[in-house]
Amino acid sequence: MKFFIDTANLAQIKEAQELGVLDGVTTNPSLMAKEGITGKDNILKHYVDICNIVDGDVSAEVIATEYEAMIKEGTELAELHEQIVVKLPMIKDGVKACKYFSDKGIRTNVTLVFSAGQALLAAKAGATYVSPFIGRLDDISTDGLNLIAEIRHIYDNYAFSTEILAASVRHTMHVIDCAKIGADVMTGPLSSIEGLLKHPLTDSGLAKFLEDYKKGN
Ligand code: E4P
Repeated sequence: MKFFIDTANLAQIKEAQELGVLDGVTTNPSLMAKEGITGKDNILKHYVDICNIVDGDVSAEVIATEYEAMIKEGTELAELHEQIVVKLPMIKDGVKACKYFSDKGIRTNVTLVFSAGQALLAAKAGATYVSPFIGRLDDISTDGLNLIAEIRHIYDNYAFSTEILAASVRHTMHVIDCAKIGADVMTGPLSSIEGLLKHPLTDSGLAKFLEDYKKGN
């Protein structure tokens, strides 16, 4: 399972990269705005800064919602750096743009996916990644993890190569449950990755080992 971090915060990306388990980064316009990154030039520069920190795929989202404009913007994003994956919204023109980019060998991430049908369309259009948002489904009392299971089932039925990128991961249990279901990738905050480290028996066991070592020296 690949681990992506879902942030535009360079310090957090560095911290996750230094842990040695990071496979990529996802961003979106809201995450950019949260870091105060505004204006086209600053946003493009920020993507390059992220690519220079992380060893792996960096999803950069188009703002355009019409086919021709999506192609122009996505091409510009893809040309920024070889690690860039063009992130496209799950709308009609986004599906068409996905097909265009996949035919050209440009990698894509179809985002804002909330149903198995949308995931099926993304795979048919040749998406590299499909991003079902599990946390946002949980927020409206719908089982986000069940969507991951449905997509896994469908993709396995037809051996689609599109990778399931479980997005809107909010906490560590989401990461573990996605791994059990067989999501190819998860993207979440640094806390959801670091939470995997924690167990009280590890802490108390280590404290006892160190205490016993001191007794003998
Ligand atoms: C995915 O690529 C999105 O950036 C992200 O996972 C959305 O998560 P949120 O629902 O926590 O905003």
